[in-house]
Amino acid sequence: STGGSSDAKRRAGEAAAEGVTDGMVVGLGTGSTAAHAIRALGAAVDDGLDIVGVPTSFASRELAIEQGIPLADLDEVDGLDIAIDGADQIVLESGNCIKGGGAAHAREKLVAAAAEEFHVVVDPTKVAEQLDHTVAVEVLPAARTGVEAAVEKLGGEPSLRRAANKDGPVVTDNGNLVVDADFGGVDDPAELAASLSAVPGVVEHGLFVSYASAVYVGSEDGVSETTY
Ligand code: A5P
Repeated sequence: STGGSSDAKRRAGEAAAEGVTDGMVVGLGTGSTAAHAIRALGAAVDDGLDIVGVPTSFASRELAIEQGIPLADLDEVDGLDIAIDGADQIVLESGNCIKGGGAAHAREKLVAAAAEEFHVVVDPTKVAEQLDHTVAVEVLPAARTGVEAAVEKLGGEPSLRRAANKDGPVVTDNGNLVVDADFGGVDDPAELAASLSAVPGVVEHGLFVSYASAVYVGSEDGVSETTY
């Protein structure tokens, strides 16, 4: 995304990458903050670090290839040691977050779920007292109108995500559409997550409840780490 300082994002990404050691299978997140972690891991691989990366998107795969990080698909590895990824918004008290600003949240969640540890990297603009960011909902194309109606029933305002540089909607790496659902402040993220998951045609939504094991918040002068 465009907001926030790139120095803060870089500090967060680099701090998370420092926790990666020889022999680890590492989830490679999507977005500008995770990209800093991928670049730091690429530099470490150049210096001899022995890891296998599992990308969460075409974008993170491309960057990891450029960085010379050995890669595997999720179905080729026996779980992951750690996944490092960004977020669109996070509550530090719980570590609960909203992802999907880059439309990559379905694979991001698969990779996070398969990892022993999920480390979130953000700058301070992402930190909030309560989750109130729109929730990205990836839907099968045939399910769009049904999911929009279900979002309204759950008290949200749905809008189909449009592409900036092509006519028509955003199409995900999985060939699906994204409905951005505005629920205002989310009082019970676990309940909303379960409700959204239960809607037919929802492939995955961007609420990550009880996934984070650590959050690195980078700032102008350092990084603060919260663990769960
Ligand atoms: C991708 O779908 C998102 O979940 C990203 O992780 C999120 O948008 C963070 O991106 P930035 O680090 O670029 O803000």
